[in-house]
Amino acid sequence: MRRDNSATATYNPAMAENIQVKLGERAYAVHVGRGLDGFSAVVPDCTARVIVTDQTVGRLYGQQFSQLLNARVITVPAGEDSKSLRQLESVFAQLLAPRDLVRQSVIIALGGGVIGDLAGFAAATLYRGVRYIQVPTTLLAMVDSSVGGKTAINHIAGKNLIGAFHQPHAVWCDIAFLETLPVREYVSGLAEVVKTAAIGSAALFATLEQEVSAILARNDAVVTRIIADCVRFKAAVVEQDELETTGRRAMLNFGHTLGHALENLYPGRWLHGEAVAIGMVAALRLSVERAALDPGVAERVVRLLQALGLPTNVPAELDAEAAAAVMLGDKKRGGAAVGFVLLKALGEPVVQPCTVDSSLLRTLMGPRDERT
Ligand code: NAD
Ligand code: GLY
Repeated sequence: MRRDNSATATYNPAMAENIQVKLGERAYAVHVGRGLDGFSAVVPDCTARVIVTDQTVGRLYGQQFSQLLNARVITVPAGEDSKSLRQLESVFAQLLAPRDLVRQSVIIALGGGVIGDLAGFAAATLYRGVRYIQVPTTLLAMVDSSVGGKTAINHIAGKNLIGAFHQPHAVWCDIAFLETLPVREYVSGLAEVVKTAAIGSAALFATLEQEVSAILARNDAVVTRIIADCVRFKAAVVEQDELETTGRRAMLNFGHTLGHALENLYPGRWLHGEAVAIGMVAALRLSVERAALDPGVAERVVRLLQALGLPTNVPAELDAEAAAAVMLGDKKRGGAAVGFVLLKALGEPVVQPCTVDSSLLRTLMGPRDERT
């Protein structure tokens, strides 16, 4: 029987939320809702505004935003490869050549996490820092990457190795963008939603379990509420540990240690959220073994990921030693141990230094999947 509660109600403008990220002089608001009413007001009135986007998003929304903001548009190819020194150089060339930008100018990052990270890093370094606004167009960027000020590009030595903390001036999550997002990209974003619920809130986790169909149907009201819950949680974490120095923000890396290794070893094979989903399941096995996580809770997380259509098994051919090398080379390592984010219970993450030996690798690898 379909439940008739507020979660499955139709969207109305009153459901929009403005969540404050309280960081003193770097404070900003994250708007979550449908539509662009009020968007122009969050964009500072300045001499020059530039939109950075990718080819796919640019084709769909570039002209609309260019007209709305009276801004010129810089476009890079879609995909993770654009988080590169080469594309950064191209963005800088296009930012600087017309000589219209000054330190008071504003960059608009219109796109998914790739554009947010790339344009955000360009904004962090151009003239030693200009303002930028995140307009996330993927679910992953709405619930995670657009909030918190982490910006970065990749290097052959690993993901996100060249970057800066640079908080946006504002974030505008318009759920209407999700209408054009391919299913696989939408589902990839759901991995970060499950991550947030697993480390942050047993209540959100239960909502996700109850609302799988509405989530997959992209029900406006449910999606708005879930994005707002994720943003609220991330904002609180960032307020406590903006620069990831106390360990609190490191909790957001649940599933990312093996996830990043998978992305590094198999470029392009998994979307970010898919790799994180596999990494979370590996971290859950480790959590049962080393953090006394109830196996029933681990099973609930796996079932939810599967119900949402995410991969959960490490591929059969993954070379555990190669994965170990990448994890040990990860910038978050400490000696020969890797700090794994484990779960003690839903909403109770802990960072545990784990020596990377054969026993750890056996647990991490778990049952292998011939299909993925
Ligand atoms: P993405 O930016 O590559 O976007 C995914 C694809 O969807 C692209 O092909 C894009 O062109 C397309 N797309 C975007 N919006 C669309 C729309 N509305 N309609 C149709 N197509 C659309 O990928 P992503 O999953 O958004 O982000 C992944 C990146 O985010 C990774 O590089 C990851 O490292 C980074 N990330 C950063 C943080 C952070 O805190 N900075 C957190 C999590 C992830
Ligand atoms: N996505 C991890 C962080 O923002 O810290």
